[in-house]
Amino acid sequence: MQVKFSAEASGDAHAYFVFEGAKGIVFPEGAPDELNAAVKRAGAVSRFKGGAGQVLEFLSPEWSKADRVLVCGVGKKDKAGPIDWQKAAGGVVKRLIASGAESLSLLGAPEKAVAAQIAFGARLAAYRFDAYRPNLKKDKRPTLESITVVFESATAAKNEYSALSARAEGVELARDLVSEPPNVLHPESYAERIRELADLGVGVEVLDEPAMKSLGMNSLLGVGQGSIRGSRLCVMVWSGAKDKSAKPLILVGKGVTFDTGGISLKPGPGMEDMKGDMGGSAAVVGAMKAIARRKAKANVVGIVGLVENMPDGAAQRPGDIVKAASGKTIEILNTDAEGRLVLADALWYAQTKFKPRAVIDLATLTGAILISLGHEHAGLFSNDDDLAAQITSAGLAEGEPVWRLPMGTAYDKQIDSDVADMKNIGNRSAGSIVAAQFLQRFVEEGVAWAHLDIAGTAWKPGNDNPLEPVWATGWGVRLLDRLVADSYED
Ligand code: BES
Ligand code: MN
Ligand code: ZN
Repeated sequence: MQVKFSAEASGDAHAYFVFEGAKGIVFPEGAPDELNAAVKRAGAVSRFKGGAGQVLEFLSPEWSKADRVLVCGVGKKDKAGPIDWQKAAGGVVKRLIASGAESLSLLGAPEKAVAAQIAFGARLAAYRFDAYRPNLKKDKRPTLESITVVFESATAAKNEYSALSARAEGVELARDLVSEPPNVLHPESYAERIRELADLGVGVEVLDEPAMKSLGMNSLLGVGQGSIRGSRLCVMVWSGAKDKSAKPLILVGKGVTFDTGGISLKPGPGMEDMKGDMGGSAAVVGAMKAIARRKAKANVVGIVGLVENMPDGAAQRPGDIVKAASGKTIEILNTDAEGRLVLADALWYAQTKFKPRAVIDLATLTGAILISLGHEHAGLFSNDDDLAAQITSAGLAEGEPVWRLPMGTAYDKQIDSDVADMKNIGNRSAGSIVAAQFLQRFVEEGVAWAHLDIAGTAWKPGNDNPLEPVWATGWGVRLLDRLVADSYED
């Protein structure tokens, strides 16, 4: 949903942001006098103090021409940061989206930067994936059609919002891709969707199976060989820096459009979630869209390996040994540890075709990261403290926190093989770290690299974050776009 800016409130719902003050609720300038009295009475019986996330709703009050007036707490004034404003706005939108209200004005932004954050939060909260629900009952359908952020200097606020609007577009794309069912979004159709980024000035190249075969990418190809769909490697190039030949930041994503586990078949219950096993690639594609849309002054390359992991007569077997493009050999002991096999060749391509300033990969790589960090943090692994610090602070600023885990040779030993350079699984202890060690074996000496394991954050069942939908979060787009803006632009 597009969000507008105006100096005047309009529409059938007006929402005022208020603070929790030492001497009671602090109303924004221009709030109707009657609101104060109404909140005094209603607030007393409902424990409303203006705390973050608290909302009071007045229906058809005679003192307003709006059909609904809402009062939304953002907490204490000196503590309210960008994410708090986003969440306050998002909370209102979530509450009203299918309420019968059609148009909403959000009032009380104290400055243009806050107005922009309010718009961003409202936009993220308004996202829904209803593409396959054409017959949704009328009383269940969303009613909210327009959102207006009210701010004196509407044009200034709108300009401030433009980069955030690009970021939101990237998040929406990532959510759409993760939500698409696996019969619709498979490697071939996914590659065609990625080609659409060319309209924004992104150079898109798609490698098909013969192209990858001639480069020796047998590790990636082995994962897809049981699928009727052809595997793809998509390369997206954005050259926005003044010096077009300056080393790019490279983002690499795992794009397993469905992970059955292959011959090492996963159990049935919950397997449908594995349509989201391309969440890392979706974050990369979404970030490339945001970066291109806001014309970031940076050189950034996105590389995604797209495969479907299926059991079949042609599928890879446990016991197979494949030679990756880097020349290293891998003993496949579990065909369900496939993400690392895809990334091995994608990482090789990133470092062979380009001279990267840094490489960051994102992948729904291990169930073990869910055990360690739940849905609250993504796992961060890196060989470079500066890069790890950049990623950590970008994640904090965007409400997509990461937590760094250790690496080391003691973990690395787990994947030594008796018959090949390495095997694709360890002994089950420290599974997320061992997976990161596997990836590091495909990172060349001297290349700054980080790996984000997003198996716990790419989708969240029963998500109560107002900025995110029920399932696919689009996790990573905000972090990556922020990282580029903060650390990689001219
Ligand atoms: N795609 C899965 C990881 C995953 C699990 C993502 C749960 C999201 C939720 C990955 O390909 C996988 O199957 N990993 C195995 C690795 C094991 C065989 C070493 C796992 O985590 O069990
Ligand atoms: Mn798997
Ligand atoms: Zn997987």
